[in-house]
Amino acid sequence: MSWRVVVLHACRNMQPSKIPYRSFFRIIILSTTLFTFSIAARDTITPTQPLADNETLVSSDGSFALGFFTPSATASRYVGIWYNKIPSRDIVWVANRGNPVIDSAGQLSVAANGTLIITDQKSTAVVWSAAGDPTAGLVSPVAQLLDNGNFVVKGGDGGNGSYAWQGFDHPTDTLLPGMKLGVDRTTGLNRTLTAWKSKNDPSPGEFYAAVDIRGDPEVYLWAGSNKQWRSGPSVGIGASGSADRGFSVRFVDNDQEVAYSQVVTDKSIVSRVVVNQSGLIQHALWSWETSQWNISWYAPSGKCDAVGECGTYGVCNANDSPALCQCLQGFVPSNQREWDLRNWGDGCVRSTNLTCTNGTTDGFMVVPGVKLPVSSNAVVNMSLSLDECEAKCLKNCSCTAYASANISSADGKGCVMWVEELLDISKVSTSGRNLYVRLSAGDLASGKRKTLWSRASWPLFVATCDLLLVLLTIYLTCVFRRIWNRRRRRRATPYAINFFNEQFDEGGTGNDFDLPILDFATVEAATDYFSTANKLGEGGYGPVYKGVLSDGQEIAVKRLAKTSLQGTEEFKNEVILIAKLQNRNLVRLLGCCIEREERLLIYEYMINKSLDAFLFGKEVPPLDWQTRYRIILGITRGLLYLHHDSRFRIIHRDMKASNILLDKDMNPKISDFGMARILGGDETNINTKKVVGTYGYMSPEYALDGIFSLKSDVYSFGVLVLEIISGKKNRGSSPFSPQLNLVSHAWSLWIERKGLELVDESLNYTVAVKEVLNCIKVGLLCVQERPEDRPLMSSVILMLGSDIATLPEPKQPGFVTRVFPLQVDENVNMHEVYASNHLSASLVGR
Ligand SMILES: *[C@@H]1O[C@H](CO)[C@@H](O)[C@H](O)[C@H]1NC(C)=O
Ligand SMILES: *[C@@H]1O[C@H](CO)[C@@H](O)[C@H](O)[C@H]1NC(C)=O
Repeated sequence: MSWRVVVLHACRNMQPSKIPYRSFFRIIILSTTLFTFSIAARDTITPTQPLADNETLVSSDGSFALGFFTPSATASRYVGIWYNKIPSRDIVWVANRGNPVIDSAGQLSVAANGTLIITDQKSTAVVWSAAGDPTAGLVSPVAQLLDNGNFVVKGGDGGNGSYAWQGFDHPTDTLLPGMKLGVDRTTGLNRTLTAWKSKNDPSPGEFYAAVDIRGDPEVYLWAGSNKQWRSGPSVGIGASGSADRGFSVRFVDNDQEVAYSQVVTDKSIVSRVVVNQSGLIQHALWSWETSQWNISWYAPSGKCDAVGECGTYGVCNANDSPALCQCLQGFVPSNQREWDLRNWGDGCVRSTNLTCTNGTTDGFMVVPGVKLPVSSNAVVNMSLSLDECEAKCLKNCSCTAYASANISSADGKGCVMWVEELLDISKVSTSGRNLYVRLSAGDLASGKRKTLWSRASWPLFVATCDLLLVLLTIYLTCVFRRIWNRRRRRRATPYAINFFNEQFDEGGTGNDFDLPILDFATVEAATDYFSTANKLGEGGYGPVYKGVLSDGQEIAVKRLAKTSLQGTEEFKNEVILIAKLQNRNLVRLLGCCIEREERLLIYEYMINKSLDAFLFGKEVPPLDWQTRYRIILGITRGLLYLHHDSRFRIIHRDMKASNILLDKDMNPKISDFGMARILGGDETNINTKKVVGTYGYMSPEYALDGIFSLKSDVYSFGVLVLEIISGKKNRGSSPFSPQLNLVSHAWSLWIERKGLELVDESLNYTVAVKEVLNCIKVGLLCVQERPEDRPLMSSVILMLGSDIATLPEPKQPGFVTRVFPLQVDENVNMHEVYASNHLSASLVGR
């Protein structure tokens, strides 16, 4: 098995303004602590210096203390570790859990062979001992309490850095950062968390958390032999539905180990995961400000957390409460009566049995955003891609479902296949995954999403193709006849070419471009007479259609509205501009067409349409971070080309998500140059009375004063970057406060150092944290209020590749908001709206 690591969540929660003040105080406290203990406290014991009942070890930085303690209401003495700086002295680890010393004559010592021993000095009985690794070959062993709370036995000669024994290998009920929950595959050591029996009894209780390493590993919480909760495969504790901060959850699955752990980089953050006596697993962060533990997440907490609530093939959705359970599509309750009574445990059965013989027509239906089913018997294969996974699952009749093994594995590979009935699927708000469930063709057909024809369905396929071929022939015959008729009628006037020469010569730019001119009939035929079925969307200047030329090339046709006021001007503009621009991140103009009233632009067809559908659309699967990042880089390159690298300096003036088209590999291409302007000579900005652009993307100086420059595009680009990261529109990003748009929201999160909260929830925290933070910072630099503060695209491209620490700190962003609401279609460009409502716009953000 190749190895996988998931970093599920990382954030900082320190408020910048408060750091100096607080650290100052802490330094004072720390120095007094150190001073107090510098006489008495040590952090090691040796064979000649054991620890008596009334003594305490304190780790060198004062974070943890180790000594004898008595739980309230008893006289029993236990050796434990607690937070030295936290007044409540919460015990994080206990040595002799079940074997207390019953008087205060206990002693903790380390024997010459490295064995830790707790003895009762009065009775000289050994109550607890822990033998170190005999192969470690210790020389004069010492036991030391480390700064992370680990109590270790090592060689006194400095050793070779390894420990003969360590407390972190034997967790009690608390997982500290750096500790692991899981199994060491080489030694077989299984690290679990077991709750105290009761508040006064640290001996192991019935509740415990452990990793099930079978199939696709996940954490289970048990009450004796009953499963209380499961994390879902490859999902860390606290990652699901939590709003944890200041730490990340790490999951490792490789040849050596399967382990969950917390990683805390900021030493001031005190984080712990505890299985408590009520049978809950919880994550808590210590607040230095309020001096209390904040429980940031716990489980089981939701109605769907009980394992198998909805039975096999049932899906639990807490939002549907009280009718929690639904059968997966293609399944029906196995016992309708019980189901109606809300006893869902019997689960669901298939409405149509799978064929799974030769001639099978089974396929898969995607169930998005779920906690994957119990996977202890699932088969994991990290070398298969999702497509290969699908093919493999389809071939094996016992395969009921598949999923990608790991949402963030580096090469995108990894496959889990279920070979039994699917149990315990639930909808989750964060860290949900896509599950592909096998269905028979009939049940699939009534489904919404992905259908798949197996290779075995050739006869049907061939029959369908034959039929299509016949239809196509009939269709083409009709089309050609029509074209032929039209040609005959129009042969006299080479309409388009005349028009072009005239228009462009008049424009003063010459006609030194080499652009094919198509005739209207050809375009008509290609778009099936501009049929509604072929309509891709409606832009500011008219509808866009998909078409196929007779040679099979797919095209997108923009048909400028006849009523469009600026039509001709923009048309000319766009044609001249794009014809001369060549960049892989700009959409390519293939040709144009002008006949009488009609003005058409013919572009290469982008199979994935525009970015806004992916960011804001509900239908499409969300983009992963790598794709988003590539899109940001691509747009940057395209804009860099427009601004600096092409023959002209071009301001696009209408950068927005719907003007970014995506090709089949999800490469972004900037489109729609209808409003673009060329900067002449040494012009840096242009002042215009007519403000055009799209609300939400317009820089304040442009919206208010009509001044646009390269920096206005940079502003729109910044908004776009924030939208790509958050998956939210700049406008309407906060339903609670319409005044608060995405830019200001991003800014407030940023200054509170909560930048990662901006990230689209559908990414489930599977992001490259550094890249994300860097992009947010660049986005914010681009939307700064003063144009002169905003970077040029030539700097932006460098910034995206550089270290976040080297970037300047962004200043207050500027943005325009409407004082009173105005109903406008988002996609409509805002000429008149802004010109006439000049006074209704105001600057916000001070
Ligand atoms: C266990 O944790 C839960 C959730 O944080 C809490 O409500 C409960 O009171 C805790 N039980 C004990 C005994 O501390
Ligand atoms: C189907 O998959 C299961 C689980 O991996 C395996 O045991 C079984 O042999 C496979 N069957 C076939 C026909 O490949």
